[in-house]
Amino acid sequence: MASEIRYQSGFGNEFATEALAGGLPVGQNAPQKHPLGLYTEQLSGTPFTAPRATNRRTWTYRIRPSVTHRPYEEIATGMIRSGPFQEVPATPNQLRWNPPLMPAGATDFVDGIVTLGGNGDPAMQTGVAIHMYAANESMKDRCFYSADGELLIVPQAGSLGFHTELGILEVAPGEICMIPRGIKFRAVLLEKEARGYICENYGLPFRLPELGPIGANGLANARDFKAPTAAYEDRDGEFHITAKFLGRLWSAAIDHSPLDVVAWHGNYTPCKYDLALFSCISTVSFDHPDPSIYTVLSSPSSIPGTANCDFAIFPPRWMVAEHTFRPPWFHRNMMNEFMGLIFGTYDAKAEGFVPGGASLHNCMSGHGPDAETFERASNSDLQPQYLANTLAFMFETQLVVRPTEFAMRTSLLQHEYFECWQGLKKHFVTR
Ligand SMILES: [Fe+2]
Repeated sequence: MASEIRYQSGFGNEFATEALAGGLPVGQNAPQKHPLGLYTEQLSGTPFTAPRATNRRTWTYRIRPSVTHRPYEEIATGMIRSGPFQEVPATPNQLRWNPPLMPAGATDFVDGIVTLGGNGDPAMQTGVAIHMYAANESMKDRCFYSADGELLIVPQAGSLGFHTELGILEVAPGEICMIPRGIKFRAVLLEKEARGYICENYGLPFRLPELGPIGANGLANARDFKAPTAAYEDRDGEFHITAKFLGRLWSAAIDHSPLDVVAWHGNYTPCKYDLALFSCISTVSFDHPDPSIYTVLSSPSSIPGTANCDFAIFPPRWMVAEHTFRPPWFHRNMMNEFMGLIFGTYDAKAEGFVPGGASLHNCMSGHGPDAETFERASNSDLQPQYLANTLAFMFETQLVVRPTEFAMRTSLLQHEYFECWQGLKKHFVTR
């Protein structure tokens, strides 16, 4: 199955792909009559007048235009929540959660979404929602799209196939998948169960960060992002589209698969990226750079240098700094940090932060290594060390992440989290 799927390399590139010869018009976007009888439809991910470097749009050539559905009707949102997040007060306490359980009954990707928190407001196109998903069933004759934001999907367990309007992406834990705002997809389980994290980005689309003095290469390289090639479904029957629109879910019946794009060209595309291809930059002398050095993707806000959301990872890497406390140091941050763990252990925590779990350290809340890690790292022999079995990530966002009622009431919340720092002893001496 996987070997049949072909990808195109690059980030934000002008791709051109056709599943049938003749699907792409030559020399123009919208012929009077398409040679294969396809409809022409443009999908714009940015305003028409966005600057050329950030303008995103794709021309699709499809069996029927997107508008051919019955009216949408509102349906229950389940455990999905959206900004403005006002269910419960945000707390300055450090928060940490155990991994969510896999569902007991049949649950597809959309029904298996639970929101842990977020900020901003999709109506203002700013902020993020942070969800987790746990599914044991493929979406069948159902497609989903979010008009509220782009979906950055971080699988933690179980591979998924994302059958999108623009083609198929197969994504395994250790990879990420980005589905732009508005693009319909059906999530197919490639294993018995699947679990992971989602950042629903209400703001400007994620882009590669500038590299500054790092130069032209390093961190996430554009060529390692994979966009799908065109793949279409010509299927009539009873289908449903679930739309997320200003925080509510709506469902519309449609008499054919909406994944019917035979050919497309443009730069507004889903993509995937293997986090193992991230080229880490760090110190080869002493101390360590701020964690922004691990930024894979960034959604800018209107304030220079202040991200609506950064996506950063802490992958396997060498630690070589001399006379340095090597784990992440104690700190407090104006930004707000949601972390998850894809596999292995995280070098700032001895226990309690486990794969599939999560932590949240909000604006100006102190955090850092637990007592056990502090003692060990303060006294360890500083030989070059390879951190092999680890892949943590962070959604770091400008605005306080307000937890949902679920996040604060669930038995997954570790009420004893604060205790991991209580063993930090007084070492102060006067000479
Ligand atoms: Fe931090």
